[in-house]
Amino acid sequence: MQSLSIGLLCDTPFAGRNLALTVRAFQSTSLGILRGTQARMSEHNEGTGRSESSSVKSNPNVDKLKQIMDSDPTDGWEKCWEQGLTPWDLGKPTPIILHLHQTGSLPKGRALVPGCGSGHDVVAIACPERFVVGLDISDSAIKKAKELSSLLPNANYFTFQKVDFFTWRPTEEFDLIFDYTFFCAIEPDLRSAWARRIQDILKPDGELITLMFPIDDHVGGPPYKVSIIDYEEVLHPMGFKAISIMDNELAIGPRKGREKLGRWKRSQPINNIKGRF
Ligand SMILES: C[S@@+](CC[C@H](N)C(=O)[O-])C[C@H]1O[C@@H](n2cnc3c(N)ncnc32)[C@H](O)[C@@H]1O
Repeated sequence: MQSLSIGLLCDTPFAGRNLALTVRAFQSTSLGILRGTQARMSEHNEGTGRSESSSVKSNPNVDKLKQIMDSDPTDGWEKCWEQGLTPWDLGKPTPIILHLHQTGSLPKGRALVPGCGSGHDVVAIACPERFVVGLDISDSAIKKAKELSSLLPNANYFTFQKVDFFTWRPTEEFDLIFDYTFFCAIEPDLRSAWARRIQDILKPDGELITLMFPIDDHVGGPPYKVSIIDYEEVLHPMGFKAISIMDNELAIGPRKGREKLGRWKRSQPINNIKGRF
């Protein structure tokens, strides 16, 4: 077992609050994490001329993000969006959700993407058979999502709203809720409230899909580390059971090996299929 202390974990530019993260992992995993970290940091440091190791230790965007999140937990997300500090943003839908949509594996009807950011996943699954609501607490995120998508051919099949997921009361329930990098972004003590909101706004036979990330061992956040147990702890009391949990082999490079796709329903027989997607 090797213990590493690094300035950042992959994607933890959105790790504002605990800059010094301690990663405890087996040696091979640690090396994988570091490679991922450096690759990610390099993506965000193109043209800076810094070496990989220095970019991990002193990414100015990350330092700035940390200051913002530390100094303003309430408006931190908005400030990050205003300043373009959005290293979590893939600039495209996450491949697995596109794949599920294209293979007809997603419920039709009304879908919700909480904490949708610039909305790529919302747009990707919106179609005549599925109306998608993307919501985010940040004005700037919603503005960007609208700007990016208003002229798209499927624009009639999605909408974006600037609201707080925890206080928002939709007029209609959903057939599908897709959570990616929202559960890991909220404070862990809000996770029970997250599950209660899901229960409240999902139809009784609706499906929750969680793309669980980052499954690792780092300390602090956001993003806070997640595990299957973290989801089960808050979803089981709400009556949700996993109908499948699979490794996400379509995860983008730096996230490979740290994502699992969980599909959850209420009042369904437990059939935890452990396998690979
Ligand atoms: C890590 S980002 C992920 C964005 C998007 N899901 C993605 O993968 O690109 C988390 C997002 O959640 C939003 N957010 C944080 N707290 C929220 C809340 N209480 N209600 C709605 N959105 C929230 C932030 O503004 C941010 O855009």
